[in-house]
Amino acid sequence: MSLSIVILAAGKGTRMKSAITKVMHKLAGRPLVEHVIDTAKRLEPSNLTVVTGNGAEQVQLLLETKNVTEVMQHEQLGTGHAVMQATAQFANAEQVLVLYGDVPLTQLSTLQQLIDCGDANSLRILTTELAEPTGYGRIVRNDAGDVTCIIEQKDADAQTLTIQEVNSGIMVLPAKWLADSVAKLTNNNAQGEYYLTDMVSLAVTEGIAINTVCCSDNAEVAGVNTRQQLAALERHYQLLQANELMVNGVTLADPSRIDIRGQLTTGTDITIDVNVIFEGEVTLANNVEIGANCIIKDATIGEGTIILANSMIDSSTIGANVNIGPFARLRPGTVLADKAKIGNFVETKNANIGKGSKVNHLSYIGDTDMGSDVNIGAGTITCNYDGANKHRTTIGDRVFVGSDTQLVAPVTVEDDATIGAGTTLRKTAPADALTLTKSEQRTVKGWRRPVKKI
Ligand code: UD1
Ligand code: CA
Repeated sequence: MSLSIVILAAGKGTRMKSAITKVMHKLAGRPLVEHVIDTAKRLEPSNLTVVTGNGAEQVQLLLETKNVTEVMQHEQLGTGHAVMQATAQFANAEQVLVLYGDVPLTQLSTLQQLIDCGDANSLRILTTELAEPTGYGRIVRNDAGDVTCIIEQKDADAQTLTIQEVNSGIMVLPAKWLADSVAKLTNNNAQGEYYLTDMVSLAVTEGIAINTVCCSDNAEVAGVNTRQQLAALERHYQLLQANELMVNGVTLADPSRIDIRGQLTTGTDITIDVNVIFEGEVTLANNVEIGANCIIKDATIGEGTIILANSMIDSSTIGANVNIGPFARLRPGTVLADKAKIGNFVETKNANIGKGSKVNHLSYIGDTDMGSDVNIGAGTITCNYDGANKHRTTIGDRVFVGSDTQLVAPVTVEDDATIGAGTTLRKTAPADALTLTKSEQRTVKGWRRPVKKI
């Protein structure tokens, strides 16, 4: 049965008090309407149309990346009028699913259940029961329990206002019938709008069967009209994700203090302390430990790695049994091999750091290729930028760099070289030798590193 989907997103969202149009406000890092589009796409519709109006130019950028049809509703004359603008898009389908761009959390399974609750010729409404139904359209039923109409809050009498079953706004309608009949809607009501909900009484008159699915989770059908509602849905969504993590074997210090804005993939026996934020695509292997207040974006973290408090990791690949932080900043292009160590107040960027190498304190390592078992002293800086171009620093295996050293790139430190503290290195530091530049650079051949006295 071919299904067309129309997402209504032309409304202004006055109560958000924002220059950003309502459906572009973010939930879990993604615009509200993107949640709706992504869920809609999973139903594999023959056509997916978004009706835009207010702030259309803001929504258009997103629609281009999503490859979705856009239809403009120049004046917002009501939900029925909005659907009317998309008639040409769904006229050839069998049925149309109408979604709202400001109702982000409806589950795929719920939509599927709604589609399946009646045949293609029936009108199907997703409803929910609310203890506090103010503001919603009420589902009016006759003595036999059949739906007869939907009455909007502003048009309802005292008796109707006591009804707790409300319209979610989400409906499935026979496409041809909707296309032919939507023009019959009038705006003879309290708001002077063309209500899509009036298609229900029209269906009753014209003998179209009506089916309903009552959704037990109110959050799935909750719309965002205010910033308070947005915050409430955000917390609800985050708690759902936190629960899923725990089900999958992750220990959370506090399930109400974690934010996942993207896709987090986890192994087991992972421990996450409070106020950790994950963005984009993050993968955590088994036995990873993450301290408080870390922000981790687009990263892969290997097994047994420990990230201490207040560290930021962006677009980086981290091996197994690595130690990071506290207060470390790993910028894009950082690749840490197994057992590497990045300590406090260290910044890395575009840097490959080899197995077991340590940058323990107060350093900047950028545009660098570093071998294994290197020890970088405190306050070491790779001077990668000459004011116009970036240059690379190459450091071999088992190198020891003394504290307060500047490596002026492009520059190479060969295997087993030692750099004395306070060096400003501008030329290659040869292998197996001590290089110092306290006054003038000189190389001490045959120098041996001190060995630990037992
Ligand atoms: C609507 C329903 C109400 C339901 C409620 C659920 C109607 C008449 N009423 O009321 O029964 O309980 O949703 O949240 O349908 N929109 C447009 N163009 C317009 C008007 C609205 O695109 O001209 C879009 C809005 O951007 C929004 C959606 O349609 O995404 C709903 O509009 P809104 O004005 O919020 O409807 P409600 O009054 O909440
Ligand atoms: Ca609304």
